[in-house]
Amino acid sequence: IAKAKLYTIYAFFFYIYCVLGNLVWCLCTEEKVQIEGGTYTLSNQLQEASILSYHCEEGHYPYPHLVRVCKFNGLWEPAPTKPSKCRPVQCPDPTVVENANVLPRENQYFHQNEIRYECYGGYELYGPSHRTCLASGKWSGPHPVCRRDSGDHCPDPGIPPGGSRTGTLFGIGEKVTYTCNGNKMILIGSEERVCQEDGHWSGIEPTCYYQHTYDSPLEVSHVFGGGIKHTFASLQTENVTQEGRTIKLTKSEILNIYIALDISSSINQEQFENARKAVLTLIEKIASFSVTPNYEIIFFSAKPIEVVNILSFFDNKTKSLADMVKELETFKIQSKSSGLQVHSFYVFIKMAIIKQRQANFKEHQHVIIVFTDGGYNMGGNPTETVNSIKAEILMDKPKERAEHLDIYIFGVGTQIYDRNLKSLTVGTGEKHFFRLQTLQDLHKTFDEIIKDVKGLCGLHRNYGDMPNLRQKRQKYPWVMFVSIMTDEKTSNCLGSLVSPRFVLTAAHCFTVGDFIEKMSNVKVELYDDVQKIHTHPKYNISSKRHRGIHEFYDYDVALIELVKDVPISPSLRPICLPCTEETNGALRQTLTLSEIFVFHNICYIFSFNIERLLLTNNDRIGFLTKRNLVEKDAHIKLGENRPDCIIKALQAKGINTTNVAEVVTDSFLCSGGDYPAIDKIACRGDSGGAVFKNYLNRTIQVALVSWGNKVMKKCELGGVVESDKDSRDFHFNIFKVVPFLKSILGKTGQDYVPLVFVD
Ligand SMILES: *[C@@H]1O[C@H](CO)[C@@H](O)[C@H](O)[C@H]1NC(C)=O
Ligand SMILES: *[C@@H]1O[C@H](CO)[C@@H](O)[C@H](O)[C@H]1NC(C)=O
Ligand SMILES: *[C@@H]1O[C@H](CO)[C@@H](O)[C@H](O)[C@H]1NC(C)=O
Ligand SMILES: *[C@@H]1O[C@H](CO)[C@@H](O)[C@H](O)[C@H]1NC(C)=O
Ligand SMILES: *[C@@H]1O[C@H](CO)[C@@H](O)[C@H](O)[C@H]1NC(C)=O
Repeated sequence: IAKAKLYTIYAFFFYIYCVLGNLVWCLCTEEKVQIEGGTYTLSNQLQEASILSYHCEEGHYPYPHLVRVCKFNGLWEPAPTKPSKCRPVQCPDPTVVENANVLPRENQYFHQNEIRYECYGGYELYGPSHRTCLASGKWSGPHPVCRRDSGDHCPDPGIPPGGSRTGTLFGIGEKVTYTCNGNKMILIGSEERVCQEDGHWSGIEPTCYYQHTYDSPLEVSHVFGGGIKHTFASLQTENVTQEGRTIKLTKSEILNIYIALDISSSINQEQFENARKAVLTLIEKIASFSVTPNYEIIFFSAKPIEVVNILSFFDNKTKSLADMVKELETFKIQSKSSGLQVHSFYVFIKMAIIKQRQANFKEHQHVIIVFTDGGYNMGGNPTETVNSIKAEILMDKPKERAEHLDIYIFGVGTQIYDRNLKSLTVGTGEKHFFRLQTLQDLHKTFDEIIKDVKGLCGLHRNYGDMPNLRQKRQKYPWVMFVSIMTDEKTSNCLGSLVSPRFVLTAAHCFTVGDFIEKMSNVKVELYDDVQKIHTHPKYNISSKRHRGIHEFYDYDVALIELVKDVPISPSLRPICLPCTEETNGALRQTLTLSEIFVFHNICYIFSFNIERLLLTNNDRIGFLTKRNLVEKDAHIKLGENRPDCIIKALQAKGINTTNVAEVVTDSFLCSGGDYPAIDKIACRGDSGGAVFKNYLNRTIQVALVSWGNKVMKKCELGGVVESDKDSRDFHFNIFKVVPFLKSILGKTGQDYVPLVFVD
């Protein structure tokens, strides 16, 4: 206590001399700050507020501190009491995984160490079998889990390296909690997860971070990108054509984006330019969605500088993007400090003013993006203010109002107060807290994130069970109507938009007699300029006629290439196809990383074990009827239920064989019948339509409606028709034709943007 008192008195005298007297001898010295194995840089020589940053070779990090700040009293903070050195980057202990051996077994694991996982007998590995300790302090790839089919409602959620879990029951409503072992690590992700009715765990897979662990730009772009794109796309306004008239749908929701950059303690000119570039990129990218958010942009260098004032958006002086960019590009950083401010408090004040002026404030959506070095040197701890913001926006209904508030925090070069920072984030689903090593390249990350605004496959709105037609267009924005007109007749099929240029449908839609129809007779409703029809080269309806199968539907797949891209909007948007990067990105919103890994594996080893993830036995799938766009649901029969389902194919007209495998190849998924529930059955015009599954707000196509064994009388009336005990539908499994889809949709050097398939 005596020492502390002495220090205070000492500091006080230094303050009198240094600050008030502005004397030279107050500068910090370079004594004892050297680092073994590394170097350091100074942001402003040895003057007050200068930042000393340590640098080590890749795979090493400065210990015990990453930076020091020269305080007014001429002392470094933290003080160099212990010698600094570059330590090798350590990764958290991977041996905590259950039901597996991790080899080799070490006490500690360092950069470039490699490990492999071997599950105990009877357990199956979900995730990578080999991992490497990366320079970021993380293990490569997702956390693997060794599971066996326990009949639990949710899959074993695993244990992250360095962590431990309580809770061993995985039924609906069961809870698991996570902690990181030892006090050197912090947990990022969800500390508590609950098994939900849909078979997924709530929250985000946790990861244990050391002080030196960082997120790579790639991780940031995947995760932050997924979340923010979702927010913007769901707010997009649009023009809908109805009976020839254009109706402008304006949503009442208003999006307010607050960007605060508080890296006051460590900012230098270069960092500042990086930050400016990053914010510019971010707002330019956001502008490419058809949303027009209101912005508050504040930079905290030595004092807060309001670059863009959100209130001006509510006055009639609406700012154009160009104005905003100009303001961002021209304002200058100030060097001298004055006053204390807390950025979150600043945001809160702005919110209060908006609330006062705007009657519909309740409907506004708020996204707060904070870049900080974690010291919040500009004022006190912002937790309280964030709590006030939460209370104001979430109104004690955190679940219902969750979409109204997101707080993202980017910790930059963070070494302190991480735990507090993490607790400031708000938002569901995706991770909202990131640790970046530097601000460098952040703008590239943002550029990457929102590169393809046409993305967001399968995103749709969920309007209850009785949507009107306009709402249905937004619930199934990928549905396309295909008509084939010949001299004799017009036939109709459904299709699905799979990219702005292509519609996926059934090849048999174009079969007239034994021939494939020319494109001139094909119309795609709304967009009738068809460039080309690509049917699967192995599709041949008459190829098994000599074996007693009058019509053979294997490879019943075709892609219609349109002359130009359709305009993407909330009511016209592609469905997600399996094995594309985008679909994996979409699934990331709802699945754990290891589940995605399995999904990814299915695609590239082509093992067709889709039962494991996308479809489980008797899984509910949906498809649409042409008339009134009603959703029909059915259950896919897999495993031991499959033989009884497909055998009914032999009852179809034109089949004169006893070998059902000849008729229904492995490429067909079977539904129909009345067990375990009465399925809905497809009618004639439903052919070619997507058989899909929904994961929250994303729709993924797993198959397409191909053929059935019976013509149901009730189909003449259209709409929803229930299956009888014998009627069956055979849906063509599109996992089986990924190479075909890739050869066209993924082709580069064309005048359309190729879809990126996972390799
Ligand atoms: C909607 O239609 C109006 C009037 O035709 C047009 O000015 C506006 O640009 C359109 N908006 C979009 C997003 O297409
Ligand atoms: C903005 O302009 C509208 C129409 O010109 C006017 O009714 C409104 O009062 C104005 N609002 C402000 C804050 O000036
Ligand atoms: C996304 O899904 C959630 C949960 O089903 C729902 O509450 C929300 O309204 C959906 N968002 C949109 C844009 O449809
Ligand atoms: C389809 O199969 C039949 C019988 O094998 C064959 O005669 C015919 O040429 C094939 N058609 C095409 C387009 O390959
Ligand atoms: C069915 O096949 C058998 C033998 O392959 C043949 O004798 C019979 O005539 C065929 N029936 C029809 C209706 O084609």
